[in-house]
Amino acid sequence: MTLEEKIGQLNQYSDDWSATGPVTVDNAKATQIKNGQVGSLLNCIGVERTASWQKIAMQSRMKIPLLFGQDVIHGFKTTFPIPLAEACSWDLEAIKLSAQVAANEASASGIHWTFAPMVDIARDPRWGRVMEGAGEDTYLGSLIAKAKVEGFQGEKLGSTNSVMACAKHFAAYGAAIGGRDYNSVDMSERMLWETYLPPFKAAVDAGVATFMNSFNDINGVPATGNKYLQREILKGKWGFTGFVVSDWGSIGEMINHGNVKDGYEAALSAITAGSDMDMESRCYKNNLAKLVADNKVQVALIDDAVMRILLKKFELGLFDDPYRFCNPDRQQKALNNPEHTKIAREVASKSIVLLKNENHLLPLSKTTKTIAFIGPLVKAVKQNKGFWDVEVPGVDSNFIVSQWEGIENKIGSTAKLLYAKGCEIEGSNRAGFAEAVNIAKQADVVILSIGERRDLSGEAKSRSNINIPGVQEDLLKELLATGKPVVVLINAGRPLVFNYTADNAPAILYTWWLGSEAGNAIANVLFGDYNPSAKLPITFPRSVGQIPMYYNHFNTGRPAKNDDNHFNKSSYIDESIFPKYAFGYGLSYTTFAYSDLKIGSTKMSKKDQLQVSVTISNTGKYDGEEIVQLYLRDKVGSIIRPVKELKDFKKIHLKAGESKMISFVINVEKLSFYNQNLEWVAEPGEFELMIGASSEDIRLKAGFELVD
Ligand code: NOJ
Repeated sequence: MTLEEKIGQLNQYSDDWSATGPVTVDNAKATQIKNGQVGSLLNCIGVERTASWQKIAMQSRMKIPLLFGQDVIHGFKTTFPIPLAEACSWDLEAIKLSAQVAANEASASGIHWTFAPMVDIARDPRWGRVMEGAGEDTYLGSLIAKAKVEGFQGEKLGSTNSVMACAKHFAAYGAAIGGRDYNSVDMSERMLWETYLPPFKAAVDAGVATFMNSFNDINGVPATGNKYLQREILKGKWGFTGFVVSDWGSIGEMINHGNVKDGYEAALSAITAGSDMDMESRCYKNNLAKLVADNKVQVALIDDAVMRILLKKFELGLFDDPYRFCNPDRQQKALNNPEHTKIAREVASKSIVLLKNENHLLPLSKTTKTIAFIGPLVKAVKQNKGFWDVEVPGVDSNFIVSQWEGIENKIGSTAKLLYAKGCEIEGSNRAGFAEAVNIAKQADVVILSIGERRDLSGEAKSRSNINIPGVQEDLLKELLATGKPVVVLINAGRPLVFNYTADNAPAILYTWWLGSEAGNAIANVLFGDYNPSAKLPITFPRSVGQIPMYYNHFNTGRPAKNDDNHFNKSSYIDESIFPKYAFGYGLSYTTFAYSDLKIGSTKMSKKDQLQVSVTISNTGKYDGEEIVQLYLRDKVGSIIRPVKELKDFKKIHLKAGESKMISFVINVEKLSFYNQNLEWVAEPGEFELMIGASSEDIRLKAGFELVD
């Protein structure tokens, strides 16, 4: 390959379909592809379109096929719940399955590569992209990272049912200061290693094919030009053999960061740091050859990047058949597979969190005579897709079961279903309140569907105010004044603040954005055909002022406690220090009792496996699932340890009245942390073991000691 052809492999352009960054209009794209100056396209969907670009690439001298990448974040044609919602299921098999379905549909439509999963830990719900990850916890986030990579990539790359996954955004993008997207990150090394890097490591261990770096700087060095992250950690210490793509334009954006002077320096910094492919900045295309001529970049560095990219093209089988993902019959079948819809419904049902259920208002009886279904999201269709949906050419983007349709499907003609919009999502117009109150008065039960707009969360959707917008909570107030029981559905892409609703509505389901089967899944839960089992993977604050807020914080020298003297505790004088809903929280229609905690020994050595068992009983009237959570606290550490850390969990199904003994194993890995020298160590001493239904609702405790 000539140097120009090599550089071409490192160059990625967006097709004309959609853009999440400034687009450089480039009419010469086809000519460049023919000249071997482009290695990959994103935002190009469907067998016809991908095949037509591939045909042009096949006219190039080396006949190297293009890679087609796409943001397939939570489904392709079949939309699954947004990733944060799916994480509420704590169901790794379900999460893997949804990635598999997405991969199946995307790969049938010409896509080789998804820019997912986003494995950024996120502790700030102002950040719009909390919706795209698995929440705040490193342990849960790492397991979900693995499940998603395995789901997307299948057994091995090269099967036409799978796509390459991409762990993003490397690294610490979720810790943007103030929750403002693209903002700087200032973070200790220890925090980086302990909290933010493990999900990326889990993705590498699961065989992820690619990484994407991030827009942010970390401690003053942009991630895109960060040699320490990409060369030393990722490709060095972790032995990652795949390739790294930049984020959209992020190589050129290093000029705005003030880290490099121009595109020439930006390209030098990025290639030296280990960014292999340039998404849309054109810095590589315009500068790498000159950098080689000037002896600033060795060809070996470029060869390494090219090899990494070509290897993936080989593994995908594109050199055997560049069109192997371009089969129209397969596309037609994959995009019309009723099994996918069924899976989407199941995953969506598992993602709905029951936050409150006073006096067993839920589940609703199927013989309820009159239901008033009120709110701006009742008949909304596309809203249910949430942010990062894919518009597949030729496919109706309203391929969604609305909440109204879902309930109609469920109750048929047995109940009378009344509708009023009540108000818009935003704005101050109360003109619709009277009609809503009027139908509420005629009903036995009111269901109110409120929340954010789907595009109020996602990339570039940070908010400083995360209340439920507009007058929606005022509408609830009026509906409650009728004295009718009101079930509230909250639709959102992030934890919102909704204290009035939380304190006054008798029943609340947090539905997030559930995708294609939203209506059916919500109806399943409302009427008890699915007993909710989801638990929050992220803390819900009471107010924005509490953010960032997460369960696994340190104790201070003046720990948080109920004490009126504010000099005695680390607190606010005007706000509680406790969350509205804690990490791990979520109710069921049934109740679970925890008993009989047994630990194999009160002492363990570093070689031991400590056996732990506990009995869980379903003490209510409904069959149901419980997510049993195991937390540990290292009582004394050379680096202080969090008040508790999730170290294991089990999701179990119990019939009403049934009991089951479940067991866990504690090994040295679960007791280890990064010490002052960033060594992964377990220090001898006392540990507290907590088993609970949430990070706050600890039911059983025991102590043990790690001995030398
Ligand atoms: C920017 C986003 O940060 C990234 O996650 C996404 O994959 C790219 N745009 C491509 O759309």
